[in-house]
Amino acid sequence: MILVTGGTGLVGAHLLCRLAMQKKRVRAIHRASSDLTAVKRIFSYYTDDDSLFESVDWVEADVMDVPALEEAFNQVSHVYHVAAMVSFNPKDYRTMRAVNIEGTANIVNLCVANKVEKLCYVSSIATIEKKVGESVIDESGEWDAEKNNYGYAISKYGAEMEVWRASQEGVGVVIVNPGVIIGGGFWNSGSGEMFRTIAKGLPFYSNGVTGFVGVNDVVKIMMGLMESSIVAERFILVSENVSFKQVFSEIAAGIHKKKPSIEVLPFMSAIAWRMNWLWCALTGKKPVLTKQTASSIHNKHQYSSQKIKEALGIEFQSVNAVISEVSIQFNKK
Ligand SMILES: NC(=O)c1ccc[n+]([C@@H]2O[C@H](COP(=O)([O-])OP(=O)(O)OC[C@H]3O[C@@H](n4cnc5c(N)ncnc54)[C@H](OP(=O)(O)O)[C@@H]3O)[C@@H](O)[C@H]2O)c1
Repeated sequence: MILVTGGTGLVGAHLLCRLAMQKKRVRAIHRASSDLTAVKRIFSYYTDDDSLFESVDWVEADVMDVPALEEAFNQVSHVYHVAAMVSFNPKDYRTMRAVNIEGTANIVNLCVANKVEKLCYVSSIATIEKKVGESVIDESGEWDAEKNNYGYAISKYGAEMEVWRASQEGVGVVIVNPGVIIGGGFWNSGSGEMFRTIAKGLPFYSNGVTGFVGVNDVVKIMMGLMESSIVAERFILVSENVSFKQVFSEIAAGIHKKKPSIEVLPFMSAIAWRMNWLWCALTGKKPVLTKQTASSIHNKHQYSSQKIKEALGIEFQSVNAVISEVSIQFNKK
């Protein structure tokens, strides 16, 4: 039996569908508040066969709820740990640390106790840093604890440490470190929010560069690694390193909207996050721009996926092709 956490999110829902299409025995945890209709929508992108969604054994469990997780682990041999809290709001830091680090520790403890054969953990490029003197970031980039890292990165790095503990305690582990994942179905969060915001007429872009990857490639690679004999390795998953300007323009073209035309310069986003902070302090609203996001949109980071290409002999779908596919899903929604 395969167990998937985070099956009601972008990566997890696409993964569940692919596993179900291969007729694998799959159990997925969800919370009482999880939106299963969004998962059904993802299944409808790939298949008309409703029985595939029904074939998933859904169990209610939070990653912080050990007794519920214990039941979910019954007869489980392989685990995809995808669930995480993703937030750049400093107010969410403590909860995010708990869900991402303690939640992963709970999954690891149960993997060890149940003698799970293999655990695939979804981390992020946020945990990988540039080596001094090198322009391209690869898996050998060491984490610098002294650096002023942001909450999400700290929590994902802490979770990776828990996964390495599983490796030392006899579980075969693989970690994937995707860049920004582009995929359809969840239009109010992650990359889906970029489509929704550009559809509303976003005028701004930045020339910052980062790694992007399609959700289908992420899922195929996770399944490929799980079925391989590879253990105790981590892999950057980035199709291409491109600018936000290019991505926003391609999304605008795909959904037939005007391309953003005003470049946001660093001083503009520095003023904007401070004004947003003041507005939130006065109104109690959640920030739309934080200090971290305001500076990250100007970073120019290049990531290498050479290691995974050589390990599995794969090529990534181009960012443009991914955006075209997701635009079709967005236009139909
Ligand atoms: N999206 C990206 O661009 C990106 C890039 C790099 C890495 N990642 C990593 O990829 C993974 C999946 O990301 P995603 O984009 O699919 O995220 P997502 O759409 O936000 O989904 C997050 C999933 O985690 C679940 N979850 C959150 N807190 C939980 C808890 N306390 N107990 C149980 N489940 C919980 C959510 O369940 P509910 O439905 O109940 O909320 C949801 O299923 C995450 O680990 C993320 O850090 C994402």
